[in-house]
Amino acid sequence: MNDDSLFGDLPEQIAPVSILQAGVDPVWTEHKAKLIARYLRYFVFITKHGCYVDGFAGPKNKGVSESWAAELVINSNPKFLKQFFLCDEKAGQVQELEALVASQTPDRKRYFDVRQGDFNTTVDEILASDVITDKTATFCLLDQYSCECHWETVRKLARHKAEKANKIEQFYFLATGWLGRALSQFKPENSVPDEWWGNEDWRSLKGLSGDLIAVRMSERFRDELGYRFVHPWPIYQRDRGQGRVMFHMIHASDHPEASKLMRRAYRHVLDVPESDEQLILELAESQTS
Ligand SMILES: C[S@@+](CC[C@H](N)C(=O)[O-])C[C@H]1O[C@@H](n2cnc3c(N)ncnc32)[C@H](O)[C@@H]1O
Repeated sequence: MNDDSLFGDLPEQIAPVSILQAGVDPVWTEHKAKLIARYLRYFVFITKHGCYVDGFAGPKNKGVSESWAAELVINSNPKFLKQFFLCDEKAGQVQELEALVASQTPDRKRYFDVRQGDFNTTVDEILASDVITDKTATFCLLDQYSCECHWETVRKLARHKAEKANKIEQFYFLATGWLGRALSQFKPENSVPDEWWGNEDWRSLKGLSGDLIAVRMSERFRDELGYRFVHPWPIYQRDRGQGRVMFHMIHASDHPEASKLMRRAYRHVLDVPESDEQLILELAESQTS
């Protein structure tokens, strides 16, 4: 049965504000990559080092300037991020990633690893490579189209480090704007939704608004994976919060500063970047306040 009725038009619902973000200027789809790069610039000012894992890294909008997360992150200054794992299953996308790496000025301190394949498999190779130790501050972008990233993959990333270490941070794309439609189009024998959600409970999302699905997924990152700080960030269809929410980016971290930094990045995504000196001062102030 192809059950279109299971996820028909989703009702508008008001989600609890304790998890959803209130009072911040909205970011729209065009600026998602800038949000990621801006956040990571803040992140490295705290960590002074880091590893960037991008599971679905090929460019979505080739040729659209400043729209490719991997490119903005790799080219961001200062170059504190030292290890990069860039993965995509499509050969053409891998070529784009290889060209991006080849365009970098050689730097022996930076390590680039481009891998072709299903990230749900390559994740095992990356975690087994010993590059990410308990002390390596690591950010993993999971920028899927809709349901490509298995819950098991998210879980493996969360479990990689020892219990007392800060877990690998995750920034997870949740297609709340079209999830209902996407899920209703899978045939019952198709295993994709079960692998995406981790079990059959995705069926209980029926009738929930996008906001509530984002809250539900955020709760899973917190309750099932044990992340201390989890927030879904709504990304709008058009500028300045116009149009509907197209998707949410769920940010899960154990670092007490992470949510503050993401809030700051979300707010300032279009502003001229702060100078290094200004940032050092402002971040030190916000850590003590
Ligand atoms: C939404 S795009 C990524 C956009 C990119 N982050 C950007 O900033 O432009 C998703 C990418 O994931 C790739 N992809 C889809 N399924 C995949 C899988 N199972 N494993 C790895 N890559 C996959 C696609 O080829 C595509 O390049």
